[in-house]
Amino acid sequence: MELNIAIIYGSVRSERQGIKAANFFIKKLQKRKIKTSLIDPLEMKLPLLDKMYKEYNSNEALPAMQEISEALSQADGFLIVTGEYNHSIPPALKNLLDHFQREYFFKPSAIVSYSAGSYAGVRAAVHLRAILGELGTPSISSMFPIAQIQNSFDENGNALDSFYEDRSKRFLDEFIWYTEALKVARVKGIPY
Ligand SMILES: Cc1cc2nc3c(=O)[nH]c(=O)nc-3n(C[C@H](O)[C@H](O)[C@H](O)COP(=O)(O)O)c2cc1C
Repeated sequence: MELNIAIIYGSVRSERQGIKAANFFIKKLQKRKIKTSLIDPLEMKLPLLDKMYKEYNSNEALPAMQEISEALSQADGFLIVTGEYNHSIPPALKNLLDHFQREYFFKPSAIVSYSAGSYAGVRAAVHLRAILGELGTPSISSMFPIAQIQNSFDENGNALDSFYEDRSKRFLDEFIWYTEALKVARVKGIPY
């Protein structure tokens, strides 16, 4: 089945590390012939939330918002790559997620978390799971935590430890299973 997955990454720091994990998953998905789009608030220069995308009259929202809305709408699932800032998700990620709403509905998400230390961003991942549930894109059971992000991948998104290669297969198998299942279900109709 043809699938399209949006990778949502939310750090806008000039020395950000998590982009390496986002690139790792983009490569893995593309190897499976899945269409990907990277939603990156740094590249797209998304401002702090004033009005949600749905509150703008047509064509009045910034081009970046229109571009992100289209990418989210076309996606069948969302892979969220989150760092951990003070035990929660980065503000730019929350800001990005909050701009949109219907675009997420009845599609699954999967959480990749990371941090510089050994806790691998799991406290942010737990917060993110609650947020994704509220947004209408429930997250799959498995998570993909990455400790010491700065030492785990190279700049091109290659894993420096084969452990990540092995673990990503099972994680993506599960995510793609849900993504396909809900795509089939959406064709039959959605509850609201
Ligand atoms: C504002 C801020 C808060 C942070 N808080 C935590 C934290 O609570 N737990 C943790 O393990 N690392 C924390 N870190 C370290 C991050 O895990 C590390 O800088 C990581 O590379 C951030 O992701 P990014 O490089 O993609 O922005 C924090 C970093 C920043 C900038």
